[in-house]
Amino acid sequence: MKDILTAPYLVDLVRTLTNMYAHGWDERNGGNVSVLLHEADLADYLDLDHVIREIPTGFAAPELEGCCFLVTGTGKYFKNVQYDPANNLGIVRLIDGGKTAQLLWGYSDGGKFTSEFPAHMMSHVARMKVDPENRVVMHCHPANLLAMTYVHDLDEIKFTRTLWQMCTECIVVFPDGVNVVPWMLCGTNEIGEATAKKMETARLVVWSQHGIYGAGKDLDETFGLIETAEKAAEIYMKIAHLPLVNTITDAQMHELEARFGVKARPGYLA
Ligand code: 13P
Ligand code: ZN
Repeated sequence: MKDILTAPYLVDLVRTLTNMYAHGWDERNGGNVSVLLHEADLADYLDLDHVIREIPTGFAAPELEGCCFLVTGTGKYFKNVQYDPANNLGIVRLIDGGKTAQLLWGYSDGGKFTSEFPAHMMSHVARMKVDPENRVVMHCHPANLLAMTYVHDLDEIKFTRTLWQMCTECIVVFPDGVNVVPWMLCGTNEIGEATAKKMETARLVVWSQHGIYGAGKDLDETFGLIETAEKAAEIYMKIAHLPLVNTITDAQMHELEARFGVKARPGYLA
């Protein structure tokens, strides 16, 4: 057996979580990330017949039967993950139609997966239907996106258009725009269902007055999505109180669509 700490997905996740913390997106235990793994990814590293313990999930997700996930632990600080991955992360396999998670590795102090596990698993189900390559769901608390939800209209078209107008390449990076969930109690199946519904039409979902969810095929892509939206929100928060003299027009957005071969979400541009 190879050492799981050398598995590329584990190395990649530890680096990404460390970077998320460095960006200030994950104060204290803020944020959580899940990565879909197939049993074939794990076979060289773990005895897949050895289940450490079983953890009830509190929801059903029959689409994820037999799927394995590398997931951050609840209450864990991203800044600490690099020093003790086995305590701060876990690998689980879903059985019983998603109602039970079998712990295959990690959560070594007796902990469990993030309290946002419902939102993560339901979002994986939703994104897989749109993009079978999707493997990552990422949640964090970037300050400018969060700030924007206090001062900007939460209408999804308006919110998306503002972000697109803040940096030229936003429309190229997230042509599907940003969906918005109103303030809801976090850690519940209800916010999980609401997030997953929004994930059907966009890879970025803002949680008002809380943070953001991103989804993508790998950690770099997902991190880059959130990074780009957060940069746009930062520009917005720098200029929102100043008179607007220039902007990126819809005609220019159409030029970007043509140049980069992307299609903006229908109905979002004039
Ligand atoms: P967890 O520590 O349970 O992952 O919660 C952090 C968080 O951001 C809740 O939304
Ligand atoms: Zn959160």
